Amino acid sequence: RFRVGVLASGTGSNLQAILDRVHGRAADVVAVGSDKPGAQALARAEALGIATATFPGAEYADREARDTAMAAWLLEQGVQLVVLAGYMQLVSAAFLGRFPQRVINVHPALLPAFPGIRAVEQALEYGVKVFGVTVHFVDAGVDTGPVILQRALELPEVREADEVRARLRPVEHDLLTSAVALIARGAVRPDPVHPRFVSVEVQ
Ligand code: GAR
Repeated sequence: RFRVGVLASGTGSNLQAILDRVHGRAADVVAVGSDKPGAQALARAEALGIATATFPGAEYADREARDTAMAAWLLEQGVQLVVLAGYMQLVSAAFLGRFPQRVINVHPALLPAFPGIRAVEQALEYGVKVFGVTVHFVDAGVDTGPVILQRALELPEVREADEVRARLRPVEHDLLTSAVALIARGAVRPDPVHPRFVSVEVQ
């Protein structure tokens, strides 16, 4: 089966969705890494006997050194796709070079609006009434890679970031698990003509 590695910094609800809906079916999650020792995501993986490792920034000279170690570990586990599921670090070119077109991310906004780590706060500060989720390939920029799946969610009355996040969470879980399953079965391809367009063949 198609082998997936997940990187997560926090609670890991997106990881859990992948474990519940994709793991052992469309793909196997074979490795879960984190920059944060003690991240709840690690415990979720350990509970299923999945290999875990931590790569705290303080233990490496710079991000490139950390990312080189992390990529080497993921490759050792035979990972074919890396999923950033609430991984709150940028990945360097050194990492991306080891997994060309094989790193995806879930972001709590309709990119290209509100990239970066304060996406929901910035959307609220702007006063938007339509929020959303994007799953995209990761490139060297901040949340700039080609879009795979995107879904809008109208929340005209919500003012609190935590509430927006809670309402977006199930959308994230749907889109991220779908994207992993689609990639695992080879249904996601770059458009031959339009270099940024990703065609998704839905059965
Ligand atoms: C998710 O909302 C994800 O979109 C966000 O972190 C959260 C992780 O939740 N990621 C980013 O903001 C990346 N810039 P989880 O740990 O429960 O999956």
